[in-house]
Amino acid sequence: MDNAGAQELLMPAIHPKELWEKTGRFKLLGEILITYKDRHGKICVLGPTHEEVITDLVAREIRSYRGLPKTLYQIQTKFRDEPRPRFGVLRSKEFIMKDAYSFDRNKEGLNESYKAMFDAYCRIFERCSLNYITVEADTGFMGGDLSHEFMVPAKSGEDIIASCSECGYTASLTIAECTKDSMRQSPEELKAIREVKTSGVSTVERVSGFLKVRPDQLVKTLIYKADEKPVAILIRADHNLNEVKVTRYLNCSALEMADDKLIKDITGGPLGFSGPVGLKGVRIISDYSVAGMRNFVTGANKADTHLMNVNLARDFKVSDWSDFRYIDGGDPCPKCGKQIKLETTIEVGHTFKLGTKYSKDLGASFLDKDGKDKLCIMGCYGIGINRIIAAAIEQNNDKDGIIWPSSLAPYQVIILPLNMAHKESVKIAEGLYGKLSSENIEVVLDDREESAGIKFKDADLIGIPIQVVIGEKALAKNKIEVKTRKDKKVVQLSEKEAVKEIMKLLP
Ligand SMILES: Nc1ncnc2c1ncn2[C@@H]1O[C@H](COP(=O)(O)OP(=O)(O)O)[C@@H](O)[C@H]1O
Ligand SMILES: [Mg+2]
Ligand SMILES: [Zn+2]
Repeated sequence: MDNAGAQELLMPAIHPKELWEKTGRFKLLGEILITYKDRHGKICVLGPTHEEVITDLVAREIRSYRGLPKTLYQIQTKFRDEPRPRFGVLRSKEFIMKDAYSFDRNKEGLNESYKAMFDAYCRIFERCSLNYITVEADTGFMGGDLSHEFMVPAKSGEDIIASCSECGYTASLTIAECTKDSMRQSPEELKAIREVKTSGVSTVERVSGFLKVRPDQLVKTLIYKADEKPVAILIRADHNLNEVKVTRYLNCSALEMADDKLIKDITGGPLGFSGPVGLKGVRIISDYSVAGMRNFVTGANKADTHLMNVNLARDFKVSDWSDFRYIDGGDPCPKCGKQIKLETTIEVGHTFKLGTKYSKDLGASFLDKDGKDKLCIMGCYGIGINRIIAAAIEQNNDKDGIIWPSSLAPYQVIILPLNMAHKESVKIAEGLYGKLSSENIEVVLDDREESAGIKFKDADLIGIPIQVVIGEKALAKNKIEVKTRKDKKVVQLSEKEAVKEIMKLLP
């Protein structure tokens, strides 16, 4: 971070609520914020991120273009009452983040600062020996117009990315585009619409089983509230609605599913039986996937009833067509048309071009060269420190345990005297420990009175990159063993040679 031109500072973890109200994020983040009332009755926020605090600081400190550009960073504990905390350190309520914020005079400046951070992040993750992918991503509650996520492929990951091995397209699942391919009309002839009784059957699987039609011959009609205005969204029933795409399309700030009462008011029927035919007074928008369908099934807007052989244009009209669904594995790539592959990943870093949202709300302006007052243009950049640990372990392990990349290992060397009752072994182990320590090598000595088997097993499990084994048999020939955890290669060497070998193995 320092080499990339950033300056380190440490911000408070406790923030006044008023700061969060100025940007509207006290309400927007809602239950994610961990808050408490202090002895004077003031509400305080435990910082989940620091855009508010840093922008307030810069607003007070920087007055002129001469103070810009500036990139500031910290390594700090963050607090988020996550809706779905996950095992270990992947997603916790308290975690460590390295966060940075850039302030520039204009867009070109932001692009430069952004690139400097982006490149530094690539170097950081490379140095952590992580195999990672960068993808374009949604900006979520940060706002702004562009963001990139740094993703580590791992089975235990909770983020999904879509990629194409043909042309290299990659995007996070929330923004990966679906093509208009499915707009092509099926050649089937239009059949007469007909009402069918589907008593108590409302989910897609059950309706399709009951009526003996495939899920892709069903259309789901989802009633939502977009900034308090109702909207009906149509989507082929085997697809999943992507609320981020809908929110962006409608340009609304809150998108919520309608409750039973609103559904009844709008459609006349109960939840689970909505359909577009005869629907009045509500905007009907549809995913592209519905456009090519003929003779499909929809809800009939009355209890226990569906309609079969419903058709577009003849039976109802759609006001807007767009891409409102999540892409599926096997769907065509939006860039080249070949097949998209989905994989689970762990998000270890995230960079955003924020623009002026925070500088406007918190008054971070400066006097430019031309004598005009202007708003600072911001970027923000985060790395999940503990999450890197989880990701590194997911990627570097074998059946025996962790294989730490040297740059992240808690120790570089572990010394294993196999028999603590053997004086000579202990003497050599302690001597070696002193020698390596004085060379500033991080070294740990397993001086527990455990069996050799347990020591070997534990050393493999905790994954220190280099093991030095001191056993009676080899000692009799004046040799000790140096073993690399990664490939389990063992060499027998004299004590002196061993130190040289270790220095050679270290990065
Ligand atoms: N609850 C958490 N536990 C551990 N790490 C987290 C958590 N939330 C975020 N991070 C890390 O901090 C980085 C920046 O956070 P941000 O992008 O704001 O999080 P999110 O994508 O969860 O909204 C993420 O890329 C991730 O590595
Ligand atoms: Mg993120
Ligand atoms: Zn492609």
